[in-house]
Amino acid sequence: MKAIQIHHPAGLDNLKLGDVPDAAAPGPGEIKVRLRASSLNFHDYAVVTGMIPSPEFRIPMSDGAGEVVAVGAGVTEFQVGDAVVTTFFPEWLNGRPPEGGFTRVPGDGIDGYACEYVTAAATSFTPQPRGYSHAEAATLTCAGLTAWRALAVEGGMKAGDTVLVQGTGGVSIFALQFAKMAGATVIATSSSDEKLERLKAMGADHVINYKTTPAWGPKALELTRGQGVDHVVEVGGPGTLDQSMMASRMGGHVSLIGVLTGVQGPVTTALLMNRQIKVKGIVVGNREHQLDMIAAINATGMKPVLDQHFPLAELGAAFRHQESGRHFGKIVVDI
Ligand SMILES: NC(=O)c1ccc[n+]([C@@H]2O[C@H](COP(=O)([O-])OP(=O)(O)OC[C@H]3O[C@@H](n4cnc5c(N)ncnc54)[C@H](OP(=O)(O)O)[C@@H]3O)[C@@H](O)[C@H]2O)c1
Repeated sequence: MKAIQIHHPAGLDNLKLGDVPDAAAPGPGEIKVRLRASSLNFHDYAVVTGMIPSPEFRIPMSDGAGEVVAVGAGVTEFQVGDAVVTTFFPEWLNGRPPEGGFTRVPGDGIDGYACEYVTAAATSFTPQPRGYSHAEAATLTCAGLTAWRALAVEGGMKAGDTVLVQGTGGVSIFALQFAKMAGATVIATSSSDEKLERLKAMGADHVINYKTTPAWGPKALELTRGQGVDHVVEVGGPGTLDQSMMASRMGGHVSLIGVLTGVQGPVTTALLMNRQIKVKGIVVGNREHQLDMIAAINATGMKPVLDQHFPLAELGAAFRHQESGRHFGKIVVDI
C-alpha cells in the first residue's frame, strides 16, 4: 500500500510517499479499515518537522477516517462497510488518563494514518457521525475531541455561559461551534480582521484582534461588563495565559491546551490565586468522550469547518499551508 513516511532529517521536504507492506488481515477483536481521509493538527506538524523527534520511516498523522473492509473474530460493534473514525489514544477507552504520554499515539509513538489501510483493535475506532464525509469525520480525532473535552467534559459548560476562544485553528473553531451548540456566548480572537468577520458569521458574539489589542484580557472583561468569562480554551500557552486569566470570572475555568507561544514561561501566579481560577491541563480525550461528542453531533447536525483539501501525496504542501497561518478551521488530506 501507499504511505507517507518521515525520512531523516525530518522536515517538510523529507515527507515521502512510498510503498510499505499492506496492513494484515484482522485478528480477533480487530478490524481492517481503508482510510479515506486525515486532517492536520499542530501536533502532527511538530512530528513531521522534527520538533517532536520520531524514528525514521514513521508514518505520521493522528487522525484517520475510512470504511471497514474486514472484521476479525469476536467484533460485534462494526461490520464491513461501516464508516469509522480513529481515536487519539487507542488504548484509553474511559476513566483516568493512562501513563505513557504519546508513546502509544498514532503518528507519534506508533505509526499513524497517512496511509491507505490500517488494521487495529476495533476499540481504537468509533462510528462516524451520521451524514459526515470521511474528510469531515477525520477532523474529530484530535481537534474536535480536544475542544469537546475542554468545554463539555472538564468545563461542564451550560447555556448562558461565556466562552473565550483564541485564534481560528482547528481546536478553536470547534470550541466556538460546541459553545454555540450549547447556548453559550462566545468571545473569539484572531490576528486577522478578515477572519474575525468569518467568526462573526459563524455566531461569535464578540471578536477581538489580538494583534491590534494585545491587552485582549481586559477587553474581554469589559465585554462581559466586568464579570469575566466562564471558560477559556487556552491554545496559546505561556504567552497568552495571563491575558486569559484577566478575561476570566472569579473562579473561572481555563482549559490549558496549546503551545502556540511555547512550552514554558512566566505566569502571574498571584492572578491565578486572587481570581481563584481553575486551570486544567488536558490532552485530547478518551473513547468514551469521543462517543459522547459524536452523540451530540448527531443530535445537532453540527458540521466541521473545512479549509483546503490536499491529496495524500501533497502532505508537505498541506503542512506549508498550515505553517502560513492562512487557514481557517481544518486542513484535510484525501487518501
Ligand atoms: N492538549 C491537547 O490535547 C491539544 C490538542 C490539539 C491541539 N493542541 C494544541 O493547541 C494549539 C492549536 O492547535 P490547532 O491544531 O488548532 O492549531 P492550528 O489549526 O495550526 O491553529 C493555529 C491558529 O492559532 C492562532 N494563533 C497562533 N498564535 C496565537 C496566539 N499567540 N494567540 C492566539 N491565537 C494564536 C492562529 O489564528 P489566527 O490566524 O486567527 O490568528 C493560527 O491560525 C497547538 O499548540 C496544539 O499543539 C493541544
